[in-house]
Amino acid sequence: MADRYLHFTGTAPGRFLTRRLGLPQPAPLRRWTLETPSLDGPLLHLTAGKPAHPGTLGPVLAATGLKVTEQADRPAGIVLDATGVTTAAGLADVHAALHPVVRSLATGGRVVVLGTSPSPDDHHQAAAQQALEGFVRSLGKEIGKGATVQLVRLAPGADPASAESTLRFLLSPRSAYVSGQVVELSADAPGEVADWAAPLGGRTALVTGAARGIGAAVASVLARDGAQVFCLDVPQAREELTRTADRLGATALPLDITAPDAAEQIAAAVPGGLDVLVHNAGITRDRRLANMAADRWASVIDVNLDSVLRTTDALIGSGTLRRGGRIVATASIAGIAGNNGQTNYAASKAGIIGLVRSLAPRAAAEHGITVNAVAPGFIETKMTAAVPLFIREAGRRMNSLSQGGLPVDVAETTAWFAQPASGAVNGQIVRVCGQSLLGA
Ligand SMILES: NC(=O)c1ccc[n+]([C@@H]2O[C@H](COP(=O)([O-])OP(=O)(O)OC[C@H]3O[C@@H](n4cnc5c(N)ncnc54)[C@H](O)[C@@H]3O)[C@@H](O)[C@H]2O)c1
Repeated sequence: MADRYLHFTGTAPGRFLTRRLGLPQPAPLRRWTLETPSLDGPLLHLTAGKPAHPGTLGPVLAATGLKVTEQADRPAGIVLDATGVTTAAGLADVHAALHPVVRSLATGGRVVVLGTSPSPDDHHQAAAQQALEGFVRSLGKEIGKGATVQLVRLAPGADPASAESTLRFLLSPRSAYVSGQVVELSADAPGEVADWAAPLGGRTALVTGAARGIGAAVASVLARDGAQVFCLDVPQAREELTRTADRLGATALPLDITAPDAAEQIAAAVPGGLDVLVHNAGITRDRRLANMAADRWASVIDVNLDSVLRTTDALIGSGTLRRGGRIVATASIAGIAGNNGQTNYAASKAGIIGLVRSLAPRAAAEHGITVNAVAPGFIETKMTAAVPLFIREAGRRMNSLSQGGLPVDVAETTAWFAQPASGAVNGQIVRVCGQSLLGA
């Protein structure tokens, strides 16, 4: 179901009327296209305090291909290096740096604040660095014009070079529907990309639930980025699955992911092994708990969580997921905020968050594998088109960008996690929700 309100506010009378009535003013988001792969304008590089890694951020920003400058009338992006802010008094530098320029940010612009992990041993540093989170989340809510604001935290010992894949993503049209997020980078080696135009070149990826919706978009973006893709979906969806796979030059794998031998079947289908495993298949069986039969509970936990645990264990254990592999699971903001009628679904999606946080450090230490999750908010799919009108409208508007996201927004975030150069991005739950108010 198309977002007619978004279309209406894009017309002159629509803009006039909705402004007069004080209604939300969603700015049309500019997403990645072959013709417009990057932001349209210069990148302003600012600092607050004395940077923790002087001289190292500049080359990373220059590598994005954007024109990096210390002064610009209408920047398309602003990066504030706040790694040197270690006291409450030092926060004044954050205000001093951004206050004069924030209004000049171009429509659809990007603000990224670079910080460091709050220290367990220095409560002054921890207070100052944690303050940046509240700052970023608030700025995201007030900035408007389709702009986004994020905080990227470097672990002790990590330098800005480990943030390259993350900065490239956040400072591009690929992250159009990601805002108000905090990404923590580990001190692990990031890994290298041979060709940034095809960062997944030579890699093999499996996407579950890939016949349609978000999964089909993920398969498409991974293929665009150079991966050889296997699209898995239930045998009942074989026709749609084959159509999707054929369109992408991918391989269709009709298989129910809850089958007891699913992991063996996957291993047999990808004899060369896998580099990227995307757990996207998911179902809803909504009812309030008092009305929910045990089978509705069980099927949702089985598809959304248990099968993810089983196949992850088996594919790592058998070595099918190769060293340096990337696992991307699909949570949901319902798993963070909870939702009326979704105790089963929210439990399954919160379970995904538990899985990611626990497995990520061990998988990295033992196998060089990263484990992250996307947590979509309101995404325009068949699933959300079926939601009753008023709830659908609320879902679309109750976020900082005043609109729903598209499957491609979740797919772009997944592709960033999947990159070989994202080795320092591990154990992260990144919401693709336009900074939804739910669970924020
Ligand atoms: N659409 C949203 O707004 C939204 C929000 C938050 C999270 N999500 C999550 O994103 C993922 C994709 O959602 P979507 O909106 O594209 O849903 P969708 O229903 O359009 O697609 C899900 C796909 O998974 C497949 N699938 C279901 N059970 C399977 C099984 N046992 N084995 C293999 N494949 C199976 C389905 O056949 C379908 O093709 C899900 O995990 C969902 O929970 C979606």
